[in-house]
Amino acid sequence: MAQLLITGGAGFIGSHTCVVLLEAGHSLVVLDNYSNGSPEALQRVASLVGPDGARRLCVVEGDIRNPSDLERAFHAAPAGAPVEAVVHFAGLKAVGDSVNDPLTYWDVNVGGSRSLLAAMQRQGCRTLVFSSSATVYGFPTQVPIAETAPVHPINPYGHSKAAVEQLLADLAASEAGWRIARLRYFNPVGAHPSGAIGEDPLGTPNNLFPFITQVAVGRRPVVSVFGGDWPTQDGTGVRDYIHVMDLAEGHGAALEHLLTQGDTLLTLNLGSGQGHSVLEVLRCFETACGRSIPHQIVAQRPGDTAITVADPSRAQQVLGWRTQRSLRQICEDGWAWQRANPQGYRP
Ligand SMILES: NC(=O)c1ccc[n+]([C@@H]2O[C@H](COP(=O)([O-])OP(=O)(O)OC[C@H]3O[C@@H](n4cnc5c(N)ncnc54)[C@H](O)[C@@H]3O)[C@@H](O)[C@H]2O)c1
Repeated sequence: MAQLLITGGAGFIGSHTCVVLLEAGHSLVVLDNYSNGSPEALQRVASLVGPDGARRLCVVEGDIRNPSDLERAFHAAPAGAPVEAVVHFAGLKAVGDSVNDPLTYWDVNVGGSRSLLAAMQRQGCRTLVFSSSATVYGFPTQVPIAETAPVHPINPYGHSKAAVEQLLADLAASEAGWRIARLRYFNPVGAHPSGAIGEDPLGTPNNLFPFITQVAVGRRPVVSVFGGDWPTQDGTGVRDYIHVMDLAEGHGAALEHLLTQGDTLLTLNLGSGQGHSVLEVLRCFETACGRSIPHQIVAQRPGDTAITVADPSRAQQVLGWRTQRSLRQICEDGWAWQRANPQGYRP
């Protein structure tokens, strides 16, 4: 079992991955500045994994851009155990915000990753799992999208992810010993089946699923559906939704692979390979929560695509991993979280 550093572990995907990694017996130091995460999420992670798991979870509040915060995190493990690998979630993820404020996005996502990698080099830790995104593909020329598709992002968020991917490739080529997985997530949704942890966006959600859950629980009046005239079966956009627990398990598998097989640079799509339209998701969620979800069709958003679906076969070949959970389970678990926590982690 390894000593790991998890940046952004208090966030949506990070907190679920912490549960999976602690349950697998790893020891974790989480570094998070709580700009979009909550200490409460980590307390709930600790309760979910029980006293033995909780003893293997150590939390450092700090910023990945700050070398002294990174230094503290690398030395925070009890008994000074060296960090063997890093899982790097910390970053900003709202496409719209990135268009309005590209400097901040490049600072946190690219500058922060550069500063983390420099700290890893200083500490002699060269194993990394990085949160990339299907956004790097931009407008896909072919669907389902394989990892060989051109990287051609169309917004500053996507550019920042593609830039870090390039930095990681340069690093892997520069020096033997780096073992890096660049994981391109499709649409992570759902929640831990306990309903204790889930997605808790600050302000207006950028993505469909938290919007639906907040309308279902009465926090917002209506779901806006961006475009009813896409060339799809019902006119609404089609996406590849991946249950956050499947995604978390994908990180466990990638880490295991890097630590045991020693691949230098791995690039994998993490998606289900199944496409669902917005109306399909709405109907499925209505069944899960037993109430109707008011929605209205509005204009398409610039930069959106009709259909984005992963070809996840490479992850299955290399890691032996594939998604296990259906859209129905995504909706049931997402509803269990939102119903039990109508205001997210806030009291
Ligand atoms: N959720 C998605 O739809 C999605 C899709 C593709 C890729 N990703 C990527 O996955 C990663 C995790 O996404 P998420 O949905 O869990 O987001 P999130 O915002 O819930 O989690 C990110 C965490 O990083 C922390 N953080 C942000 N800046 C930091 C900094 N400078 N120093 C330390 N901590 C910092 C936040 O407080 C938060 O806890 C991100 O890098 C995101 O770009 C997310």
